[in-house]
Amino acid sequence: MVVILYLINTSVRRAWTEEGMIILGKQRIGILGMGTVAKGFCKTYFMNKNEIDNKIDASLDIEKVLVKDIDKKRDVDLPHSVYVDDFNDFNLEELDIIIELIGGVDPAFEYIKKSLESGCHVITANKELMAKRGSELLKIAKNNNVLIRYEASVGGGIPLISTINDALVSNKIVRMMGILNGTTNYILTKMTKERIEFDVALKQAQELGFAEADPTADVDGFDASYKLAILSKDAFGVIPEPEEILKQGIRNISIEDIKYGLELGYKIKLLAIGERNNEHVELSVEPALIPIDHPIASVNNEYNALFIEGNSIGEVMLFGKGAGAMPTGSAVLADVIDVIKKNKDYMGNNNAKNIIVKNIGLSAYYVRMEVLDMPGVLGKIAVAFGDYGISLDSVVQRARGGRFAPLIFITHEIERMKLNDALKTIENKEYVTEIQSIIKVVK
Ligand code: NDP
Ligand code: HSE
Repeated sequence: MVVILYLINTSVRRAWTEEGMIILGKQRIGILGMGTVAKGFCKTYFMNKNEIDNKIDASLDIEKVLVKDIDKKRDVDLPHSVYVDDFNDFNLEELDIIIELIGGVDPAFEYIKKSLESGCHVITANKELMAKRGSELLKIAKNNNVLIRYEASVGGGIPLISTINDALVSNKIVRMMGILNGTTNYILTKMTKERIEFDVALKQAQELGFAEADPTADVDGFDASYKLAILSKDAFGVIPEPEEILKQGIRNISIEDIKYGLELGYKIKLLAIGERNNEHVELSVEPALIPIDHPIASVNNEYNALFIEGNSIGEVMLFGKGAGAMPTGSAVLADVIDVIKKNKDYMGNNNAKNIIVKNIGLSAYYVRMEVLDMPGVLGKIAVAFGDYGISLDSVVQRARGGRFAPLIFITHEIERMKLNDALKTIENKEYVTEIQSIIKVVK
């Protein structure tokens, strides 16, 4: 191996090899942000410092931290002198690794770009940035012979990206189904187990530090769609625009739907699904009923999971904490260690480059409607479904003793457009007061 040392100081920092830049000795770290995840990163390092330093034969020296408010009291063991509130105070030539933990696209993109162009490796937990501008950053990193890693951006502490890129590299991934947002899983779990209303459960998730600064990103499915876009790059080699992903959040899920779902043998989860067919990849994020005995249905609270189907390995499920300071901080630290130890790029799965993103959606559906409680209504509606070629898997009728009653149907697999057409007709019948919910059912 040819090694050219290009920076010789009291300790040697960087060296060019045939494989690109490698890092030696003490590692000079700059961190952008010192919030939930950055504190989790620091605490994990300080807790495991001896073991980690031994493994990488180096120590991490946190030299600069960028924050908005340098005088804010922070529960982390760093001297006040490391804090700055201007990115220009980072002398990038004298740093080896930049860890971006401020979130959002701007100014994070510019800061990362400058860091890569100055020869720093970059670690980020920023899914919005990686989903929207990740391909540009990956190219900039490549052109500058440095690495950008983003394990913590999907699934918090669970090693999803490294598993797809390393352990499962011998497989063609045909399908992925994941719970990728801790906040919504926490809310749905509380609604299911404790019948707590949506707003109360969301407030609890915010207090626990899982929710994004603006929790609409969580509850309306944006956060999960960013994560699915990133996974799609690594699993399918397809980098979609986030808006290409069919997306629906959980605001409309009611405790009624959760109860009827349970009666029929299903739980409701916000599922991110990616499926590869020959000419296209289907990507969607939406609430779905999943059979209670499916492994994904047992993933509760802020936990995340990814159920992967590989063409050789079969089914694999990765499960763990998808958010929170310490789990996410540990994934950031794992990336730092990986960059120092291996210095190799993820290959991604590029054999699907020409595949296009498409949402066709042949699926079974759960439909809840309110109808007049009188003889023959159930039969008439079943016939109306039949007229559109929709066959029914199960039906539940609950009389409430009043004029109106809820009717719940689970269909067999059907195109969503066909279901919409049938429901438009059914909605206009004089005995139907309202179509209240339509939710995908996943087998
Ligand atoms: P926080 O809001 O807790 O912390 C953000 C930090 O960045 C704060 O220290 C803040 O400074 C600083 N900051 C924000 N904007 C700027 C700016 N323009 N200039 C300088 N400093 C700035 O965020 P999190 O730690 O929760 O999240 C960080 C990233 O990790 C995000 O991309 C998030 O999506 C991702 N993530 C978060 C997870 C979680 O569980 N929280 C899990 C997985 C990923 P100050 O303290 O002075 O206000
Ligand atoms: N807000 C995100 C969640 C944090 O709830 O999953 C982890 O990315």
